[in-house]
Amino acid sequence: MKVLGIESSCDETAAAVVEDGQRLLSNVVASSMDLHVKYGGVVPEIAARSHIEVILPVIQDALDQANCTWDDIDAIAVTCGAGLGGSLLIGVLTARTLAIIHNKPLYGINHVLGHVYANFLTSTSLPGLQMRAGQPTFPMLAIIVSGGHSQLALFEDHFQYRLLGQTQDDAIGEAFDKVAKILGLPYPGGPSVAKLAEAGDTNRYQLPKAKVGKYDFSFSGLKTAVLRLAQTEIGESYDFPSTKLSERLSAAQKADIAASFQRIAIETIVDKAKLAFEEFCPASVVIAGGVAASSELRRQLSAVLPDSSIEYPDFKLCTDNGAMIASLGCFHMKSNQLPADPYTLGIAPNLSM
Ligand code: KG4
Ligand code: ZN
Repeated sequence: MKVLGIESSCDETAAAVVEDGQRLLSNVVASSMDLHVKYGGVVPEIAARSHIEVILPVIQDALDQANCTWDDIDAIAVTCGAGLGGSLLIGVLTARTLAIIHNKPLYGINHVLGHVYANFLTSTSLPGLQMRAGQPTFPMLAIIVSGGHSQLALFEDHFQYRLLGQTQDDAIGEAFDKVAKILGLPYPGGPSVAKLAEAGDTNRYQLPKAKVGKYDFSFSGLKTAVLRLAQTEIGESYDFPSTKLSERLSAAQKADIAASFQRIAIETIVDKAKLAFEEFCPASVVIAGGVAASSELRRQLSAVLPDSSIEYPDFKLCTDNGAMIASLGCFHMKSNQLPADPYTLGIAPNLSM
C-alpha cells in the first residue's frame, strides 16, 4: 500500500510517499521560510502564495523520487487542519483535485496527530536519515511539542487516545520563537536559541516553572520572565521596549539567557512526561512536533526514562513534512476508515486532537 502525503499547513510545502505506514520512499520539503525571516514570523498571505507556486512540482518530485506513477499510488492523504487557513486551502484543494482526476481515495489528516506518526517510519531508501529501529507499541505516551501545541496524549491503539493535558496559553515552540526575538535571533527561534545555548551557562539564571494542572503546561509566564530578566540585566525598567534589548545585552548574557531558558522550558515538559510515564506505565514513549528536534529534549528525556521505552525520530522528520501525513494516511486506510468526499473535504484551521 502506497500513500501520497501532502502537507501545507504553515510555511512548508511538502509531499512524500510512504509504503505500508512504515517505509519512506520519498520526502520533499520546500520552505518559504526565507521570505518570512525579515518579518520575524510567518506571514500567512506570503505562505499561501508560495504554496500555490510550488505545490505541483513538489508533488511531482515526491512521485519521481519514489519511482512511482499515479498508477502506483493507492490513496492521497492531506493535512486539513490545524493551520493557517490560506495555506491549508492550497493543500486541500490540490489534493481534492488530484483525487478526482486520478480516482484515488482521499483522507483528511489532523496535522498534530500526523506529527506523532513520524515515529512509525522505520525504513527508507533515502540517504541521510536516521530511522527508528522499530515502530512504537501501545499503550504509547506521546509528547507533542510544536509551534502551536504542547500536549501529552496516551494512545491505547491507533485512533484511540486521550489527552492527559495541554498548554493553557502559549505552546513551547512559540516560547522559543518569542525568546529568540528578545535575544535578536532569527525566526524560527527553536534552532537559533538551541545554537546560542550551546555557549551558555544553563544555571546562570533561575527562571520559573508554571504551576498548572497535573499534566497541563503554561509558557506565557516563562516568556515574560525572560523579558523581565533581560530588562533587569541591562539596568532598565519594565517599560524598556523588547525590540531594543538585544543590542544592549552582552554576548555572554544572551547565551546564558538562551541556555537557562531552554533548560527550564524543556524541563517543564520532561517533568510531566516522567510523571505520566510513572502513572500510566506506557510500553513506549514518542516525541512529536518541531520542538522534538531539540537535542536538549532528547538529552533530558534519556536521563529520566528507561532506554527501552523511547526511540527518537530523525530530526528532519520532526518539523513539518509530508512523510508523517502519508504515514498516518496509511493507518487510516489500514483501519478501513471511510475516505473523505473529494468534492467537499473542507479545512479546519482550529482542529484540535
Ligand atoms: O511542528 P512545527 O514544524 O510546526 C508546527 O506545527 O507548529 O514546529 C515549529 C516549531 C517552531 O516554534 C520552532 O521554533 C520549533 O518548532 N523548533 C525547535 C527546534 N527546531 C524547531 N524548538 C526547539 N529546539 C529546536 N531544535
Ligand atoms: Zn507541525
